[in-house]
Amino acid sequence: MMTVRVAHAARIATDIHLLELRSAGSTPLPGWTAGSHVSLRSPNGSVRKYSLCNDPAERDRYVIAVKRDPAGRGGSVDLIDHVRAGDTVEIGEPHNAFDLAPRAQSFIFIAGGIGITPIMSMMKQLNADGRRYQLCYLTRSPEHTAFADELAGDEFRGKVVVHHDGGDPANSYDLWPLLEKPSSAHVYCCGPRPLLEAVRDMTGHWSKSAIHFESFIDAGAAAKPGDKPFTVRLARSGDRVEVAPGQSILEAIRAHGHEAPSSCESGTCGTCRTTLLEGEADHRDLVLMDDEKDTQIMICVSRARTPEIAIDR
Ligand code: FES
Repeated sequence: MMTVRVAHAARIATDIHLLELRSAGSTPLPGWTAGSHVSLRSPNGSVRKYSLCNDPAERDRYVIAVKRDPAGRGGSVDLIDHVRAGDTVEIGEPHNAFDLAPRAQSFIFIAGGIGITPIMSMMKQLNADGRRYQLCYLTRSPEHTAFADELAGDEFRGKVVVHHDGGDPANSYDLWPLLEKPSSAHVYCCGPRPLLEAVRDMTGHWSKSAIHFESFIDAGAAAKPGDKPFTVRLARSGDRVEVAPGQSILEAIRAHGHEAPSSCESGTCGTCRTTLLEGEADHRDLVLMDDEKDTQIMICVSRARTPEIAIDR
């Protein structure tokens, strides 16, 4: 982790606050690419990931937008309520699990709510590159729309549709005309779980490599009422590890000293894919195809339907 200074803090929409972070000393900030996020430690010690939403060409600052989520684990509320301009916070180096396809020339962005944040940096990069894109940005109301003025400006003219549903699913934007016919475009979707699932269901006939998801749910947010503890057996060592409700398999096995790769930790990137040897999984990811679900599991979000499962770790 490195220490950075909060150079500016401001509310930019209902429950959404923007923080500008700059180097706290003479060390320059590490470079980054569009779609990157940083892990940030709130004053209460909780660590959460936030996408960088400024222009990746800007090397002297990181800009993040934080949604105040009282139903979350407390990191965002603590950050917004207790961090002010002039304070310092600790962050990790930028990491990108949602990067732009380097050779694609056309992009469809679908953002729901705070899911606009990585897409802001991506669109700025594409403007600089001269590559084509369109954005469909779905929010509850004008007041809940972050970056509204910027998106209405010349930089994005003719490329952005903003739709407000008033919080009523009956007023949802119809994405089907956008996704009905597969094209050479790459689709990037970031937002709440129901939006990701809807886009996944509407893009089953697209090339899998052209569809990209990102969400910031963690194992706690992926939890469902009624989740039960279960045991995961690590076939290589024979260890048995208890997984509590609200805890992921990944967290549980790491707490027992076992290593496993991960990136998004929200069931969207595929990094933690693990072979399922025994038992039945409760799949909660957006990666696996139906024909993979009997033998594979994403251990960052998925759980077990049986009291015990065995995995190839
Ligand atoms: S770490 Fe990305 S799917 Fe699990």
